[in-house]
Amino acid sequence: MKVLNIGSLNIDYVYTVDHMVREGETLASSQLESFCGGKGLNQSIALSRAGVKVYHVGLVGEDGEMLLEACRSNGIDTTYLKQVEGKSGHAIIQVDKDAQNSILLYAGSNRKFTKEYIDEVLKDFQKGDMLLLQNEINLVDYIVELAYQKGLTIVLNPSPYNEYMEQIDMSKISIFLVNEVEAAQIAGADNPNDVLPLMKEKYPDAMVILTLGDKGSIYQYKDEIIKQDAIKVKVVDTTAAGDTFTGYFLAGIIENRPVEEILKESAKAAAIAVSRKGAAVSIPYKNELNS
Ligand code: RIB
Repeated sequence: MKVLNIGSLNIDYVYTVDHMVREGETLASSQLESFCGGKGLNQSIALSRAGVKVYHVGLVGEDGEMLLEACRSNGIDTTYLKQVEGKSGHAIIQVDKDAQNSILLYAGSNRKFTKEYIDEVLKDFQKGDMLLLQNEINLVDYIVELAYQKGLTIVLNPSPYNEYMEQIDMSKISIFLVNEVEAAQIAGADNPNDVLPLMKEKYPDAMVILTLGDKGSIYQYKDEIIKQDAIKVKVVDTTAAGDTFTGYFLAGIIENRPVEEILKESAKAAAIAVSRKGAAVSIPYKNELNS
């Protein structure tokens, strides 16, 4: 089985601030750092650091050398990555004194996917291969249709959730990695308690992993429900915590390990990520989980 992630790569500009800038306010930041990020790249790095060989498919701009290098130095297969004209995607991230963040995205090259490029990539993948997607690139709906026709197992982290996700035929998704807001949108639930029952009713064959931030996570597959608490640490920056959890969770599923063990390991990896600054750079290697 091959693992393919078609997703974003961003340059993250992280500003340390006292509080999030408010409407009409001009605020001085105390520090600016730049890191590699993007939900797609972060999740590929998490998969790779968890021990999975992953093909990352994505587009970087003329300024994207650091993103390409991040893939190479993390052992990600870059066969299908392309550099195109214009700017790479970037994110302006404010991290406040309570370690909370807010993120402004500029899609740049992440939204320059063409159907021809997708066709060319997917012809090398077949039934049983796993495809991971997020919502920071264009043509996610087309990718889902084609991948489903080919029999790939489709994993969706519909983040950041927006109206574009309504174009996706969610019945074609095998594994959802969702937070409460995303799950409520997909399930059509008004009450958080209805989310999991409704997901099961609408998508009875799908596995759902509901991530609840500092309240942990819940796994649901058919009638089985398993809960995992978050691991408490001193939080420095929550950026990429969800991406870390996603990569480690999928790695465990690919290795066919017991779900309790996978959830615990993913929670540990996410806890390490929040205790460090930055996105991709904060994602732990598997051998750091036991130290
Ligand atoms: O999930 C964290 C990521 O979201 C950041 O790295 C940023 O680039 C945005 O895509």
